[in-house]
Amino acid sequence: MRHLTTTTDLTDAEIEAIYDEASGYLGDQTNQKLRGKLVINIFFENSTRTRSSFEVASRRLGAEVVSLDVASSSESKGETLFDTAANLDAMGASAIVVRHKNAGVPKILSKYVKASIINGGDGAHAHPTQALLDLFTLRQALGDVRGKKIAIVGDIKNSRVANSNIALLTRFGMEVIMVAPPHFLPRRAAIRSAWNLRDALDEVSAIMSLRTQTERHEQPIYASLSDYAANFKITRELLGDRDIFVLHPGPVHRNVDLDDAVLSDPRSLVLNQVHNGVAVRMAILSKFVLEN
Ligand code: NCD
Repeated sequence: MRHLTTTTDLTDAEIEAIYDEASGYLGDQTNQKLRGKLVINIFFENSTRTRSSFEVASRRLGAEVVSLDVASSSESKGETLFDTAANLDAMGASAIVVRHKNAGVPKILSKYVKASIINGGDGAHAHPTQALLDLFTLRQALGDVRGKKIAIVGDIKNSRVANSNIALLTRFGMEVIMVAPPHFLPRRAAIRSAWNLRDALDEVSAIMSLRTQTERHEQPIYASLSDYAANFKITRELLGDRDIFVLHPGPVHRNVDLDDAVLSDPRSLVLNQVHNGVAVRMAILSKFVLEN
């Protein structure tokens, strides 16, 4: 049984194969590769984009898809969670996409089910399909990413997107520079950090902006998001005429993370990420379901 809990569950060759397949889906193609298979999305934490992306991906492969939104009812009582998973498994799911506010839940569930567990985001730990679609998008824009630099900006410490991207992008030869105020920086000796985005601007080929994860802060860190924005908002003025691509996993705090002008700038890859996300998830689902 194969599961996708972090990007390290895949070899480099497997990732290349996923990207080859995903490239063939960029025209919104459909097929019947997963006809007769059942994919269940179970999201214990809110999501619009990731859940719908998995739904669209499953349908385009001809699978049946059921999405359960249990954000409001789930107080992660161990038993309830395992019972829920066991029930889904008993319905004959081939893959179960799980999102949960606690790190490690997909890994634990994978020990109790026959279906492939795909991590749709667990706490601040990992979001492997997001990182995989982000690397795919960066390659599309930059070509060979090896040796190129990217600034990851914002609440890195609380971001599963940052965590998974730091692991994956460095593995594929990118240099990551973390740009954040001290309380948003994790302790990662091996990765360079800067408090001021302007210091990194002339070196990077891309910027990945992150949403401030207020739901994971035990106490308010900024009096308001506009205080954060004063130092870390990516503006067109800041980019100038540099060749820097801008990514964001969404949902974007508009005019806090990125300003309107950046969102409508051709250097923004935000919607390319969403588009590519469906294709990359199609390739991931077909691999994990068919190899199961
Ligand atoms: C992210 C998530 O949920 O981890 N969004 C996403 O999956 N597209 C980032 C976020 O919520 O800020």
